[in-house]
Amino acid sequence: MRKDCIFVEESKIIDHQHYDDDISILRLESVKCSENAIPGSFIHLKCNEELLMRRPFSIMKIEKGKWIEVLYKSLGLGTQVLENLKKGDQVNFMGPIGKGFKIVEKKRTPVLIGGGIGIPPLIFLLDEIKKNKSMKPFVFFGSETKLPFKYSPSKILIKSLPSHIIASVDFIEANNIPSRLSSTKDFPGFHQGYIHELVEIWLKSLDKNKIEELSIYSCGPKPMLREISFLAKQYNIPCQISVEEHMACAVGGCAGCIIKVKEDERISAKRVCVDGPVFDAATIYYE
Ligand SMILES: Cc1cc2nc3c(=O)[nH]c(=O)nc-3n(C[C@H](O)[C@H](O)[C@H](O)COP(=O)(O)OP(=O)(O)OC[C@H]3O[C@@H](n4cnc5c(N)ncnc54)[C@H](O)[C@@H]3O)c2cc1C
Ligand code: FES
Repeated sequence: MRKDCIFVEESKIIDHQHYDDDISILRLESVKCSENAIPGSFIHLKCNEELLMRRPFSIMKIEKGKWIEVLYKSLGLGTQVLENLKKGDQVNFMGPIGKGFKIVEKKRTPVLIGGGIGIPPLIFLLDEIKKNKSMKPFVFFGSETKLPFKYSPSKILIKSLPSHIIASVDFIEANNIPSRLSSTKDFPGFHQGYIHELVEIWLKSLDKNKIEELSIYSCGPKPMLREISFLAKQYNIPCQISVEEHMACAVGGCAGCIIKVKEDERISAKRVCVDGPVFDAATIYYE
C-alpha cells in the first residue's frame, strides 16, 4: 500500500439506498481509494459543483479495486443534495484520508463500540478483524434512530447481560460474532439507555484475565466517546477512538479541525484530518 496517499477520484454512483430516519447508503465506483483504504479512513466528497465545501464520510465497506461504501445521515444542505443523487450520477471525492485503527493483535477480544453515524468505520474494522480467526470480537452499537441493518433476537447467549437485552445485528451474528444494541428509545431487545451503560454492565461481569484480553475501538458522538474513554481508563483497557470535527481542507493545510491532545505531560494541537481521525483515547485532552 502507498502509505498516506490521497487520491482524487471522479466516480459513478453504483448504488444509493435510502432507509428510515434520513439514513442512506451510497456505493461509489473506486479503484485507488478502495485499494488503499484502511478501517477508520474517510473520504472528502463534493456533493455538487455549486457547494465548494466537501463533506467528510467514513468508509464503511470496500471491494478492493472496485468500490467503496459510505453510510450517511441527511442533516444539512450538503447531505440533502447528496440524498437526491441517483445511480449513474457522477461525484468527485478525495480519499482515503487519515490515520485509521491499528488492530492490537495480542489482545484477542476486540470490543467494537459504535454510536449513530459512528457505526460505519467499525463495520469496516470488523471486516478486517474477521480475517484473523483467532480473534473473538464483540460488538456494541447504539442508535437513536432505526438502524438500516436487520436485527433479531440473538442465539448467542451472553450470561452476564439481562436476558431481555437480546437484539443482535443479523449480518454480524451470521459470522458467529456476538453483538448487542442500545438506544434511549424503546426498541425491542435493545438496552434502553446509553451504550456506555451497557458496556459497563458487561465489563463488570468479566474477571481480570478476560479484561486483559480486551482492546476497545470506538466511534460516535463526543459525549459517548468521553464515557467510553473513561471506562477504558478505569479498567485499564487500550482504547482507540475515531474523532469527528468540522473540516475544511481535510488534507492538513488549514488547521480547521484541531483538537487538544496530551503528549509527554504537555498539551499540543493535532489535526483530526491527517493526525487522526483515530487517536489513542488516553491522549485526548478534555476541558
Ligand atoms: C472524519 C469524519 C467522518 C465522518 N463520517 C460520517 C459518516 O460516516 N456518516 C455520516 O453521516 N456523517 C459522518 N460525518 C459527519 C458528516 O461529515 C457531517 O454530518 C456532514 O458533513 C454534514 O454536512 P451537511 O451538508 O449535511 O451539513 P451542513 O450543516 O450544511 O454543513 C455545513 C458545513 O459543516 C460541516 N459539518 C457539519 N456537521 C459536521 C460534522 N458532524 N462533522 C464534520 N463536519 C461537519 C460540513 O462538512 C460543511 O462543511 C463524519 C465527519 C468526520 C469529520
Ligand atoms: S481540515 Fe484543514 S487541516 Fe484538517
